[in-house]
Amino acid sequence: MTFMEMELARESTRAYDPDHPVSREDLVRIVEAGRLTPSGCNAQPWKFIVVDEAEARAKLCDALVVENGMCGAPFRDQVPAFIILVELPAKIASAVLQHYGDSQRFAPGDIGMAALNMSYEALELGLSTCFLGMNDQKKMEEYFGIPEGYQARLVMAVGYPAKVEPPRKKIRKPFEEACSFNRW
Ligand SMILES: Cc1cc2nc3c(=O)[nH]c(=O)nc-3n(C[C@H](O)[C@H](O)[C@H](O)COP(=O)(O)O)c2cc1C
Repeated sequence: MTFMEMELARESTRAYDPDHPVSREDLVRIVEAGRLTPSGCNAQPWKFIVVDEAEARAKLCDALVVENGMCGAPFRDQVPAFIILVELPAKIASAVLQHYGDSQRFAPGDIGMAALNMSYEALELGLSTCFLGMNDQKKMEEYFGIPEGYQARLVMAVGYPAKVEPPRKKIRKPFEEACSFNRW
């Protein structure tokens, strides 16, 4: 598959086969893709927590429901594995820090790039993924021992799809709206 073919094939999967577990070997490969991702000042402001055991999965499913009862993953009970991407305090170059006054300036972007790399690695392994942006931070800290205030920025659901279907048509802004050349 060319990379563009992979771009068109990667999509958010919201129905998983709960009886088809993901091997640790594959989960490690996916995390490796995250670990090798570039980051601002090479700060690598991430920690990946793989959640593949039943008890931990049940806790995560609970933590994916936020205070007001909203949940971005009504399908969460079928997901055989998750990877939590935690944003760490970033050690960036002092001159860069002085300029922006914010050590986390690049960190959410770094996490996003890691997540996308991981999703393509999963795709290559025949796995499907879905990013989940909402979670209850307090529960994440309590259930997974995440240090207080370290944001669980993103959770990635990983598994085999309930049904193998051709990729959906991408819903995206037209090219002309998304891009211009040499000026706004
Ligand atoms: C930061 C982020 C958070 C997301 N959170 C959720 C979510 O909570 N639930 C969900 O079903 N999809 C979630 N998605 C998936 C997006 O809805 C999806 O990527 C987008 O609609 C484009 O569709 P595609 O991934 O199938 O190409 C999230 C994606 C990103 C990047």
